[in-house]
Amino acid sequence: MDISPQTWRAVAQVDDVSETEPLEIAAENRSVMLLRIAGEIRALQGNCPHAAARLAKGRVEDGWLHCPHHKARFRLTDGVCGPGWGLPALLRYMVKLEDETVYLAEPLVTVGKDD
Ligand code: FES
Repeated sequence: MDISPQTWRAVAQVDDVSETEPLEIAAENRSVMLLRIAGEIRALQGNCPHAAARLAKGRVEDGWLHCPHHKARFRLTDGVCGPGWGLPALLRYMVKLEDETVYLAEPLVTVGKDD
């Protein structure tokens, strides 16, 4: 699939993105988290689909992000919610890396399960 965003916005330096501490940024009046997942930098929806808690304040453990409010958890590789909650998966957004900089597509472009 070829998706060409209109623009790319520099949002962080590659070295600022951690495996354990989500980096929260604002994009289009939404919260987006940057994380390093299995060696790749990914952008995920930053507010919990349950009651909009800021997920960047949550805990990352064993490949899951635990919401700081009511403890729903989301699998980092695909955003899927863990058992017992029935919440939608976290949206994932298109990013690119260039010259040690992380760029986020504008407008935001979601990526699907198979991307
Ligand atoms: S706000 Fe995240 S589980 Fe309730």
